[in-house]
Amino acid sequence: MEKIVSSTEIAPRIHKIVITAPQIAKMWQPGQFLILHVKEDSERIPLTICKRDPEKGEITLVVQAIGESTREICSMPAGSPIRDVLGPLGMPSEIDVNFKNVLFVSGGIGITPLYPLIQKYYELGSRTTVLMGFRTAKNLILEEEVREVATNTMIASDDGTLGEKGLALDLIAPAIEKWGKFDHVYIAGPVRMMQYTVAEAAKFGIKSTVSLNPLMIDGTGMCGGCRVNIGGHVKFACVDGPEFDGELVDFEKLAKKLGTYKDHQCRIR
Ligand code: FES
Repeated sequence: MEKIVSSTEIAPRIHKIVITAPQIAKMWQPGQFLILHVKEDSERIPLTICKRDPEKGEITLVVQAIGESTREICSMPAGSPIRDVLGPLGMPSEIDVNFKNVLFVSGGIGITPLYPLIQKYYELGSRTTVLMGFRTAKNLILEEEVREVATNTMIASDDGTLGEKGLALDLIAPAIEKWGKFDHVYIAGPVRMMQYTVAEAAKFGIKSTVSLNPLMIDGTGMCGGCRVNIGGHVKFACVDGPEFDGELVDFEKLAKKLGTYKDHQCRIR
């Protein structure tokens, strides 16, 4: 049985949790996620993977305690057993070696799925510019990790307690002025944040990829819970995604669906 190796609160209600999962640590690629089933009677929680250590057989997750199951895992101490871990699930991120000047825009905990991708492009020698948005200074997470693999970093906060006052997408125009036009932008965060960031990037002729966070239940394409509309076609985020072309996503439908199930547990973030 897998177990929790360590659990650290890195911001209010946000924990960095290291668990044992040797197979996933070996096979996982950026963009993929897993589903945790903590105890017999717990709900299944889809979570993005932040880091892995194949030698130790461990993976690092960032979990926000927003519902019963996420609160449960965040309260569990090191050594606690986990009933099962399913993964890696979903399609790996499409990495384009021709993208030499790459932009990443995150909202809140959305920086978690972007971090491995930033690292990958950085290792490939691309210039990586990261625009991180948080509600307030207290919510800042993964700053140190991101700075290690980001050529440029800019931070914004809603209340101005950290970096520029405003949204991360407000930093796109100044970033282009400083570092030139970007080849592509990767976006992760709340649905509306992704929708408006896609539109802002499009104004500058920059194509986008978004990491979607719909409801998930089985994570294997069977339940239909994660159905999303992409370019007029129905896709399942768990098997066809979670990353999609930002300009093809029907954000209105997605926001409506998530609003309907606002209190549901099964969200990636
Ligand atoms: S989570 Fe069930 S189909 Fe995707």
